Amino acid sequence: MNKGKLLDARPYVEKKILELKERVKALPYIPKLIIIRVGNDPASERYIRNKVKKCEEVGIIPRIVHLSENIGYEELERLLHNFNKSKFNDGILLQLPLPKHLDERKLVNCISPEKDVDGFTDENLGKLMSRQDGIVSCTPRGIVELLDYYEIPIAGKDVLIINRSNIVGKPLAQLFLKRDATVTIAHSKTKNIRNRFGEYDIIVTAIGNANCFTADDFGANQTIIDVSINFDENGKMCGDIKKSDYEELMEWDCNITPVPFGVGQTTVMALLENVIEVVEKRYKDWGYL
Ligand code: GUN
Repeated sequence: MNKGKLLDARPYVEKKILELKERVKALPYIPKLIIIRVGNDPASERYIRNKVKKCEEVGIIPRIVHLSENIGYEELERLLHNFNKSKFNDGILLQLPLPKHLDERKLVNCISPEKDVDGFTDENLGKLMSRQDGIVSCTPRGIVELLDYYEIPIAGKDVLIINRSNIVGKPLAQLFLKRDATVTIAHSKTKNIRNRFGEYDIIVTAIGNANCFTADDFGANQTIIDVSINFDENGKMCGDIKKSDYEELMEWDCNITPVPFGVGQTTVMALLENVIEVVEKRYKDWGYL
């Protein structure tokens, strides 16, 4: 039997950064991204640090706006409207989760769809569903890019996505449909899903439960995408799939994305590409590029 591959994002990221750097150089001005952080969630701090570092590597200027945990809805709404109107940024990212007293959905929808580089607004999600051009959310976009990089076919495949969120499961299902896959979405109320893994060619897990799946849960010749970033009892980063079982899965000709160095990294690449595309689109529309 053939051996499966570890779908390490690092070679993809290296190549992508070179490509994005060139695209930034070809733009008439340097793209700018506003990153809004509300409160002090430590995971958000880590994600934002990584986004800032990668922005700087490709030549995008990031600006972090760090707001108090206690900011009110109206004040944040006003700020977002001001950023929408400002010429001094090209993309706006509202880091989630927000503190509990703030309505996340309503605030995300205050961002202008043209600057919504996360692709989270109802307008961009709707465009993806109806196959119009819009901004595609970063985790789904990054996953499909990584599969393409490793030349893993999507058309005609049976895909299982264990996540139904607006930022992962639902947009990812749309992207896979667009690429002619047959998609099933599973969630916490789905019956016996663990016993049915064998029916699928591609399985995406974004449950957020450290090491909850082992090699025994999967069949042969599957591609397994682990989206979750969890921390085990020793504080070590891990996904939903037990790392010590990667070798066994690959012996069964399964491909697997590692945690770390998997989907987390491709998500950031998709964000940078979304920011660059906002500027490219503006200049193309005006006939300059
Ligand atoms: N929180 C966790 N992942 C993300 C992301 O991709 N974008 C935003 N805005 N918040 C997040």
